[in-house]
Amino acid sequence: MRILITGGNGQLGKALQKVLVGHELTAVDLPEVDITQRAAVQDVLAQTAAELVINCAAYTDVDGCARNPELAYRANGLGPQNLALACLAQGAALMQISTNEVFYGDNPHGYDEWMPLNPRNPYGRSKAAGEFHVRSLLPRHYIVRTAWLYSAGGRNFTQAILNRAESHGKLRVVADEIGNPTSTADLAQAIAQLVATEQYGTYHLVNEGACSRWAFANEIVRLAGFDVPNEPILSREFSRASSPPPFGALHNTAASALGIRLRPWGKRWQNF
Ligand SMILES: NC(=O)c1ccc[n+]([C@@H]2O[C@H](COP(=O)([O-])OP(=O)(O)OC[C@H]3O[C@@H](n4cnc5c(N)ncnc54)[C@H](OP(=O)(O)O)[C@@H]3O)[C@@H](O)[C@H]2O)c1
Repeated sequence: MRILITGGNGQLGKALQKVLVGHELTAVDLPEVDITQRAAVQDVLAQTAAELVINCAAYTDVDGCARNPELAYRANGLGPQNLALACLAQGAALMQISTNEVFYGDNPHGYDEWMPLNPRNPYGRSKAAGEFHVRSLLPRHYIVRTAWLYSAGGRNFTQAILNRAESHGKLRVVADEIGNPTSTADLAQAIAQLVATEQYGTYHLVNEGACSRWAFANEIVRLAGFDVPNEPILSREFSRASSPPPFGALHNTAASALGIRLRPWGKRWQNF
């Protein structure tokens, strides 16, 4: 299949390029293709004659989105709208990558794919807008929601914790935000399996199990061989521009029904 990956230089874009072997791949990113520019999106689709676009491009700085919601909407709402319209015109399918932050995070049982969206911050609102446009404009689409992505060398929580442990010799991490740590490599494998099914629809793809940021940080420093104290704190003690969903755990219900499974995020996944 001819596949175009937008946001190809990001964590997930890079992981996808490693696993989507056997396909004719083109990966683009800023500055050459800005998904907020409709003409640029139409041009790259026409040039590549893509049969499927996987949109990994996004403004992923959650606090930056809270400071500049308009910018967040342009990248995360208008961008997917441009892609959906270009795919419609060309007869291509679109996979839009989305987030657990489209949910409010007040359900201690976690979220299935069909539950109502209720984002609590501008990043979540802009990603919900992207989902809305794709779903309403293009019949042949996948929405893939994921969470807490990490990869070696990427901009992510794992790297931030390792940097902090090294520079400060101690950690203070929130224990009342729950989610699913997810390896971009595992997610990319699951996406490759999903693409092969052509079973369009909405999916959650996260490593199985959920934990707090604090428990995740414990595992990161343990595996890295650091011996640093990690004090659990409450979100209200940690000042930031955005407010993430407190309980944003996703269930991979729809993908499991197709036989697509991701391994547990870690041995201690039950440790909130
Ligand atoms: N990271 C997570 O924990 C997480 C969790 C849940 C869902 N997601 C979703 O998963 C997807 C991939 O995330 P990721 O962690 O791989 O993100 P990432 O590493 O931040 O990569 C995103 C890429 O998109 C590019 N980009 C930003 N605005 C763009 C635009 N207007 N046009 C074209 N490219 C643009 C970025 O370029 P610059 O670096 O130059 O800005 C970057 O290369 C995103 O849809 C994100 O919302 C991520």
